[in-house]
Amino acid sequence: MTKRSYSDHLELPCGVGLKNRFARSAMTEALADVDDAPNKAHQTLYERWSYGGMAMQMTGNVMVDKRYLERPGNVVVQDESVLNVLQDWARAAKSGGSQVWMQISHPGRQCPIVVHTRPLSPSAEKLRILGLFGKPTAMTSEDIQDAIQRYATTAAIAKKAGFDGVQIHAAHGYLVSQFLSPITNQRKDDWGGSLENRAKFLRKVYAATRAVVGKDFPVAVKLNSADFQKGGFLIEDSCQVARWLEDDGIDLIELSGGTYEQMSFVNGTEERQRDSTIKREAYFLEYAREVRHAVSVPLMVTGGFRSVAAMERAIVDDGIDMIGLARPLCVQPDAVAGILDGLVEKIGIEEDGLVIGRGRFGVNARNWFINLVNTVSRVEYYAWQMNRMSRGLMPQTDARNNAVGYFLWYLNRTTFLGLRRKFARKS
Ligand SMILES: Cc1cc2nc3c(=O)[nH]c(=O)nc-3n(C[C@H](O)[C@H](O)[C@H](O)COP(=O)(O)O)c2cc1C
Repeated sequence: MTKRSYSDHLELPCGVGLKNRFARSAMTEALADVDDAPNKAHQTLYERWSYGGMAMQMTGNVMVDKRYLERPGNVVVQDESVLNVLQDWARAAKSGGSQVWMQISHPGRQCPIVVHTRPLSPSAEKLRILGLFGKPTAMTSEDIQDAIQRYATTAAIAKKAGFDGVQIHAAHGYLVSQFLSPITNQRKDDWGGSLENRAKFLRKVYAATRAVVGKDFPVAVKLNSADFQKGGFLIEDSCQVARWLEDDGIDLIELSGGTYEQMSFVNGTEERQRDSTIKREAYFLEYAREVRHAVSVPLMVTGGFRSVAAMERAIVDDGIDMIGLARPLCVQPDAVAGILDGLVEKIGIEEDGLVIGRGRFGVNARNWFINLVNTVSRVEYYAWQMNRMSRGLMPQTDARNNAVGYFLWYLNRTTFLGLRRKFARKS
């Protein structure tokens, strides 16, 4: 038997092939203006990445409904008015040889207050982070049916515009993930309660999406391995949901983990952070091994991969099919090409300069505010690098010692763009 390798071709159940085992995982670009449409900045950024060697790049989360965003600056696709600019975006993103898939999402309660004061969610469970999020309204049956249809509409437009596949965002505490978790889904009707009921929203979104894109078009799901909160979505649940998705005909499951309240998708699990003997690489690999035993559908794992040795082990020893990379590709857009050419062993940067209070507080500080600043700044640093690349500039990795600066950059962009957007929509 020949050994599996990260340069192998992968054929998906729908028949579409991927040229190797690397994908750039979704990262919200925050580059749209008040019209919520993709623009030249998206084209420049994605064209840059398209030459980076990965088989596929996933867009940042594209919203299905203008009323509810993950943040101002999101692209929204809810009708064909944006078809031309979407076509330009897809063309640029494929120009260097990668495929481009669109990640489709609805924030549910993780919608900043500057966008909507009463976002939708399965139940009215408020997200309490610095007053940045409003109390959600529990969705009615009509809201649920409307949301399901919106995912399908966005997927159909993505296909028409030339995107090579779509991914339903069912992780990180956004709307689908809110339905899956018993913490955020306290419904008493048949959308809540048992896991089967909680997974119904995701399965309906998948079915509606598949119905409009057809059986030959890649449809993926990004799923939490767990949300790492007491009483939340567990790894056993994740394995069962993966089995259902496999039965339903999914092409690829990307595993991640966490929510806004427990940001494991960028910080790793607490268990890993505590245990200094475990390398903080590949945060969800142990969980992915369990899902691997449950299903044979192609699996992608994202979160924390930094050394080529760990990526190789995941592919060769653990039977993982795709490696998802996000932050390293904001500072080294050609990292995958380097790996495939055998030129690099490690990717990404040391992040010490991106946290304040190190030693006394660290990333896992008791002080929740310092924790928040550190987590936000460690994400926004990369958003800032994407912003540079979108203007045709190179990443600037020597300017990284400014945790507070990146936190303020985020607040500033979110608030001012949010207010400008509100104003533009009213006038
Ligand atoms: C700036 C930034 C934006 C992100 N936006 C998204 C997003 O839109 N959708 C998503 O599923 N994950 C998003 N993520 C999470 C990444 O896809 C990925 O799961 C996470 O960064 C861990 O992978 P990494 O260690 O390779 O960076 C984002 C991460 C960062 C740093």
